[in-house]
Amino acid sequence: MAQILDGKLTSKKLKEQIAVEVADWVANGGKKPHLAAILVGSDGASQTYVASKVKACGMVGFDSTLRTFDETVSEEELLAEVESINANPDIDGLIVQLPLPKHISVEKVTQRILPEKDVDGFHPVNVGRMVKNEPAYIAATPFGIMKLLEEYKVETSGKHCVVIGRSDIVGTPMSILLSRKGYPGDCTVTLTHSRTKDLAYHTRQADIIVAALGWPEFLKADMVKEGAVIIDVGITRVEDANSKRGYVLKGDVKFDEVAEKSSFITPVPGGVGPMTIASLLYNTFLSAKGEIY
Ligand code: GUN
Repeated sequence: MAQILDGKLTSKKLKEQIAVEVADWVANGGKKPHLAAILVGSDGASQTYVASKVKACGMVGFDSTLRTFDETVSEEELLAEVESINANPDIDGLIVQLPLPKHISVEKVTQRILPEKDVDGFHPVNVGRMVKNEPAYIAATPFGIMKLLEEYKVETSGKHCVVIGRSDIVGTPMSILLSRKGYPGDCTVTLTHSRTKDLAYHTRQADIIVAALGWPEFLKADMVKEGAVIIDVGITRVEDANSKRGYVLKGDVKFDEVAEKSSFITPVPGGVGPMTIASLLYNTFLSAKGEIY
């Protein structure tokens, strides 16, 4: 039976550490970190995520600002808000929660955020710096996974890692970070996606699998090698009449059967999700300290 990679506990530890460091930083005259978040529309999951991020700011002693817009907001209006936050010297980090409505270009919005305030690490400047192994804000999900592997001292050097999903936010940066020199890293990485032929052939070779395709319970036990390390990034709301909320959260991994075969596994919820919040706080604190730009 696999050991659980407990993201909830690890995130709590990281947040406590950040809170102590922030208190010390502020007591010594440092600027109190301040994160701004922009939320467009009324998607339930996005509302929940943004609320968690704002709440976490309060818990570690940061200021936060939340700007909400109706989903009919124009691209122009949204870009103007980004620019206003860019120009506000009190705000260290800005995130625009994704997804955005179809009439708004994610690329345009992401690129309008100043790289030095882009604590989500989505701006091409930060992506490019990450690829070149230069100081950069690294996107919260892949960064959180790296921290989790580190916390549990999961061996990565020389391991074969198969990433499922090539999104800009998770799969692609994950493949880059795990192949970089150093720890966690030095993996041989295979990046698979919807056009990959015989995906199970690849996953069965993997020492480490990162499932980030957004397909509930996609990864089954027969697709996994004995003793593999399983990172489940999926978090999909699946309707369930027996649940009080009307839905349950499912990862991309069929947890019970895969847990029996693997050496380490992240649960959903309580695995990768909480780690993303700690990563975002970490980046925002770096920004307030001026440690990257
Ligand atoms: N939507 C899903 N994940 C993320 C994230 O890490 N940041 C933002 N801004 N939106 C998201």
